[in-house]
Amino acid sequence: MEKILAEIRSNQNKLIKIVMSDNISDSTKGKTTLHQIILKGELYWQSECIKNNQAHHANIQDFDLADWLSVEIPSYRQINLLCNGISITYFLKASGKYRRLQSSNNLSKAVETTHNKVKNYILAEGDNIPALIDLGVFNSDFMVVKSKYDKYKQINRFIELVDDIFKGTNREEITILDFGSGKSYLTFIMYYYFTVKKGIKAKIIGYDLKADVVADCNKIAEKYGYDNLKFIVSDVANDNLYNENIDMVVTLHACNTATDYALYNAIIRKVPYILSVPCCQHEINSTISNGGDLDIMMTHGLVKERMSALLTDSIRAEVLKEYGYSVDMLEFVDFSHSPKNIMIRAKAENTGDKDLSRVKALMSSYNFDHTLVKLLDK
Ligand SMILES: C[S@@+](CC[C@H](N)C(=O)[O-])C[C@H]1O[C@@H](n2cnc3c(N)ncnc32)[C@H](O)[C@@H]1O
Repeated sequence: MEKILAEIRSNQNKLIKIVMSDNISDSTKGKTTLHQIILKGELYWQSECIKNNQAHHANIQDFDLADWLSVEIPSYRQINLLCNGISITYFLKASGKYRRLQSSNNLSKAVETTHNKVKNYILAEGDNIPALIDLGVFNSDFMVVKSKYDKYKQINRFIELVDDIFKGTNREEITILDFGSGKSYLTFIMYYYFTVKKGIKAKIIGYDLKADVVADCNKIAEKYGYDNLKFIVSDVANDNLYNENIDMVVTLHACNTATDYALYNAIIRKVPYILSVPCCQHEINSTISNGGDLDIMMTHGLVKERMSALLTDSIRAEVLKEYGYSVDMLEFVDFSHSPKNIMIRAKAENTGDKDLSRVKALMSSYNFDHTLVKLLDK
């Protein structure tokens, strides 16, 4: 074992991941995986041990790694050390000695290992997020599955924007609602980000219409012991939703007016933060008619559709502003990467004037509907 520890110590800066498997002292334990994370600016190794199908985590400071492993390694028959380009495997032989094998790997995009560089990562390939394997975003080496690269990029960007909001806070708990959570890549990652990376107790609820998708997501959350991550079958337009303290509402491509219900719920519950990336803004496009200077934009279907989508989101931003939010609209991801790329980012500041007269004048000139305005007008 001393040889293994010596190899770890001399390669600690190059190591991406350590996997220990085939436990000889506890048959209920599956494999234990370690990878680097940053917690409150410090470099740690996070271990994840699967015991009775539940994931158990521990965070070990970088300088304590070898000591921690000296206790753990004797329980395992196989130890894998994954470095950038090289994988080393130790097998325990009947003689009690370990056999060492070395092979090359294609882990080219490793977790950066210098302190400052690691700090820049929010969600990196190589990060030990087993739920992402179940969701089909990572392969078993924690590398992004090619066909999911677009989604991976979107989630990463979303988390960067979440991080911008919460990185300076000392909060211990956070509650978030995700409207139209769907396959819930984002929802899982937010849970991982808050609970594992930030050490914040997170309660996250994802709402979606699709019962089968919701059941699958709940199963994965249960499998990894994500106790406060829940998915609920719900039509956000009609059902009663969680109504206690909520810190943030998020939507990522919640279809058409589902985004309006999310914003409405956030406004009436005075939710401090909203991050919303709308899509399928059909409502105005299907109701608008000629009525003034903008008629020129309604001659061609394609232009009408895009103009209607931009108008939908501009009105959402205006309504949020009138209800006391500071709002900015940002390019969420590059247009070539996804055309559904505008994020409405809002922060509650004050009570606002609640004056929707400008918006309503536009609606009556062009005779179109807008669900958010209708809901607040009730
Ligand atoms: C395009 S998917 C996005 C899923 C996920 N947020 C993501 O980015 O991968 C939109 C989701 O919104 C859900 N949805 C649409 N209308 C809804 C409603 N009224 N209530 C709840 N969910 C809704 C759909 O079922 C679908 O799963």
